[in-house]
Amino acid sequence: MSTAPVLSVRGLRKEYASPVRGGERIVAVDGIDFDVAPDECLAIVGESGSGKTTVAKTIVGLEQATSGTIVVGGAPRVGGPKRHRDRVRWAGEVQYVFQDPYSSLNPRQRVGAVVETSVAVHRPELSRADRRSAVARLLDDVGLGGGFADRLPHELSGGQRQRVAIARSLAADPRLVILDEAVAALDVSIQAQILNLLADIREQRPVSYLFITHDLAVVNQIADRVIVMEDGRVVEEGATRQVLEQPAHEYTRALVAAVPRAGWTPRRRTELAQLVPA
Ligand SMILES: Nc1ncnc2c1ncn2[C@@H]1O[C@H](COP(=O)(O)OP(=O)(O)O)[C@@H](O)[C@H]1O
Ligand SMILES: [Mg+2]
Repeated sequence: MSTAPVLSVRGLRKEYASPVRGGERIVAVDGIDFDVAPDECLAIVGESGSGKTTVAKTIVGLEQATSGTIVVGGAPRVGGPKRHRDRVRWAGEVQYVFQDPYSSLNPRQRVGAVVETSVAVHRPELSRADRRSAVARLLDDVGLGGGFADRLPHELSGGQRQRVAIARSLAADPRLVILDEAVAALDVSIQAQILNLLADIREQRPVSYLFITHDLAVVNQIADRVIVMEDGRVVEEGATRQVLEQPAHEYTRALVAAVPRAGWTPRRRTELAQLVPA
C-alpha cells in the first residue's frame, strides 16, 4: 500500500478583498504547509478567523488559492474544476462536511434520496437495484438503518442530520473527508456519538480526515496529529498528545488553558464525553 500523502499543501496563501475597507487585502491564509497521510486524522485547530475554513475551501475548489500548491492523490489541483467531469472527480476524491448540514440538505428531499443522489453521481455504473442497496448500506454504516430513508431533514435531530451528511460524503468513496466544525453545533453526548462513528468508519475503510475545529477537547478524542493556526499561519504542529500535553507555542498554551478538562490522558471517548463539558 502506498504511504504517499493523500493531501499535500505547500505555501498555501489566500487573500480576500476586504468587503468593508475599499480594496484592502485580507490575508486569510499566509503560506502554510501540511500533509495528510493515508488513514490519518489531522486536526486543524485555531480560533475563529484563523483561516481554517479558507484552507478547506481552497482544497475543495470553492475558493481559489492566491498562491501555493494543493496536491491530492499525487495530482495537483490547479485553478478551479472547470467542467462538470472535473467537479465530479474532485468531489470523488475529497468530500466536505459542514458544521450545519441543515443548510446543505434540501428540505424536501428524503434522506434516502439525499444519499442516492450522491451514489448516482459517483457510481453511475450501478444499476438501480445496486444503487438502492448501496444507499441502504451507507445509511446502516452511519447508524440510520430502518425507517430513516423516508424521513425529511426536519424530522431528524442535529446528530441524525450530521449522520446523513456523513453518509452522503461516503457515497463518493473519497480518500479524504474534510469535517469543518462538524460537531460544533451538537450537545457533548451527541458529539461523542458522532466522533465514535467517525472513528469506526475510519477503521472500516481507507479514508483520511482533515478535522477542523476550535475545540481542543474534540481534537483529543479524534485526531492523530494536530496543526495549530493563528492568523493564517501554522504556529505549532505535532502528535495530538504532545501538542496538548506540552504545547510549545504561547498561542497553543492559551488555547489549552481555555479548555476545562480532567487531563489529556487518553480515555474511552464515552467516558471523556462525561468529563468535558460542551
Ligand atoms: N469571502 C470572504 N471575503 C473576505 N474575507 C473573508 C472571506 N472569507 C473569510 N474571510 C476572512 O478571512 C479570515 C479567515 O476566515 P475563515 O477562514 O473563515 O476562518 P475560520 O474558519 O478559522 O474561522 C477572517 O478574517 C475572515 O473574516
Ligand atoms: Mg470556519
